[in-house]
Amino acid sequence: MAKPVLQAVRGMNDLFPEDTFSWQLLEEQFREVLACYDVGEIRVPLVEHTDLFARAIGDVTDIVQKEMYTFPDRNGESLTLRPEGTAGVVRALVEHGSLRGKTPRVYYMGPMFRHERPQKGRYRQFHQLGVEYLGMGQAAADAEIIALSARLLKSASVSADLQINSLGTPASRASYREILLAYLRPQAESLCADCQSRLERNPLRVLDCKVENCQQISTGAPRLSDHLDPESEQHFLQLQHLLDALQIPYTVNPALVRGLDYYHRTVFEWVTGALGSQGTVLAGGRYDGLVAQLGGPDTPAIGFALGMERLLALQALQNGMAPLPVPDLFMGALEEESVASLLQMAEDLRSRGVRTVTAGPAGFRALLRQAERSASRYQVLLGRSQLQGDTVLLKEQLGNRQWEGPWRDLPSGLAALGVDFPNA
Ligand code: HAM
Repeated sequence: MAKPVLQAVRGMNDLFPEDTFSWQLLEEQFREVLACYDVGEIRVPLVEHTDLFARAIGDVTDIVQKEMYTFPDRNGESLTLRPEGTAGVVRALVEHGSLRGKTPRVYYMGPMFRHERPQKGRYRQFHQLGVEYLGMGQAAADAEIIALSARLLKSASVSADLQINSLGTPASRASYREILLAYLRPQAESLCADCQSRLERNPLRVLDCKVENCQQISTGAPRLSDHLDPESEQHFLQLQHLLDALQIPYTVNPALVRGLDYYHRTVFEWVTGALGSQGTVLAGGRYDGLVAQLGGPDTPAIGFALGMERLLALQALQNGMAPLPVPDLFMGALEEESVASLLQMAEDLRSRGVRTVTAGPAGFRALLRQAERSASRYQVLLGRSQLQGDTVLLKEQLGNRQWEGPWRDLPSGLAALGVDFPNA
C-alpha cells in the first residue's frame, strides 16, 4: 500500500478507542490508589520557558543537550515542550507560594516530549504518571512514596524489581566525582563515544551506560556508597530499614545514578527484563535542592514518574489485554418513518445507563451486517409495521435468547433477558 501523504511525527503515536480503553482503566485504578494517599492532581502547562528545564534538569544532561523540543515563539522567547514533569510542578508551586509551611503531595498525568531515537518502549511523545511529595525530608517520606509506587504497580497487576541507591549530597557527590574521574581518565579510550564525550562533564553517567565495555570498567570503579556523607548514609540505612518493615523487597544497585541532575540522596527504579532494553517502568528520587534552586524556600522533596506506554506493554505481556466492553443493544431503523421513535427509545435506554448503538435507515441485510460489526449483545430492528402495532424481535447476537413484544415494552424485554439498567 502506498504511504499516506500525511503521517504522524516519528515516535509519536495515535491511540484509538481499542487502545485508550486500557489506558482509561489504568488511569482510574491509579486515581483510586492516589486518593488513598491523599495525593491531589495538579495540571501544569505542556510548554515552559526553556530556561526552567536547563536550570532544573541540568545543562550537561542528555535531555537538555540533545533531546528537548525547543522553539522560539512569536515574541522570540525560547519555549520548550516539557521533557518531564517535575520542573514545571516545582515552578508552579513556587510561583503560587504553595510551599511555605505546607507539604503538598501532587500527581500529574500527561504527555512528555523527548527527541530520542525511537524504538520499542521509547517514544518522542510518551506519557507519564508522576507523583511529587514536597516539604518532607525524612526517610519516612522516601519509604511511603516507594510503597505508593509499589501499590500502583500492584493495582496494574504487573511485577517488576525495585532497585535503590543513594547519591549523597551535592558536596559528597562532588568529592566522589573527583575520585571517579581519577579512576576513569586513564581508561577513557576504552569507553564508548558517548561516555568519552560526557566523561569530564558528567562522569557518574558512565556508571549506568549500557555498553558492555563501559559496564566492565564501571564494575571496578570506586563506589559512591563508600563515599557518602554520614547523614546521607544514615538516611539510606533508615530507608532500607523501613522498606524491610513494609516487606517491600529491593536491591541496592550502586550503578543507579539517573539521568537528571536534580537528585540528592535516594534514587530508585522499578525495572523488568521483559521489555528488552527499555525496561525501566518507573523511576524517581529525592531532589532536596531543586525548590531553592528555582527561587523557592528551602524545601526537601521526593517524587517519581511512571512510563504509561511501558507499563501498558508490561501489563499486556504479563496479563493479556483487557477485554473491550461491548454495547448492550444494537437498534436499526428500516425506514425513515421509524427513525424518530428509534432515537427516542435509544435516548430513554441511555438515560438508564444501557449501552446502545443505533443505525439506519437502511435495508435489512445492511443492518444485520452493522449489528454484527457492532458486537452488541442484543439487536432489534424497527420498521413501519412494528410501529403500527406488530411486535418487535429482540435477539441475542451470539446465542438463542430472544424476546418478542410491543415496541414500547422494549425496556421490559431487555430486563427480562438480563440486561442491566445501571441508572434505573
Ligand atoms: P525519567 O527517568 O526521565 O524521570 O522518566 C521516568 C519514566 O518515564 C521512565 O522510567 C520511563 O518509564 C518513562 N520514559 C522516559 N522517557 C521515555 C521515552 N522516551 N519513551 C517512553 N517512556 C519514557 C523523570 O522524568 C523524572 N521527572 C521522575 C521524577 C519525578 N523524579 C522525581 N520526581
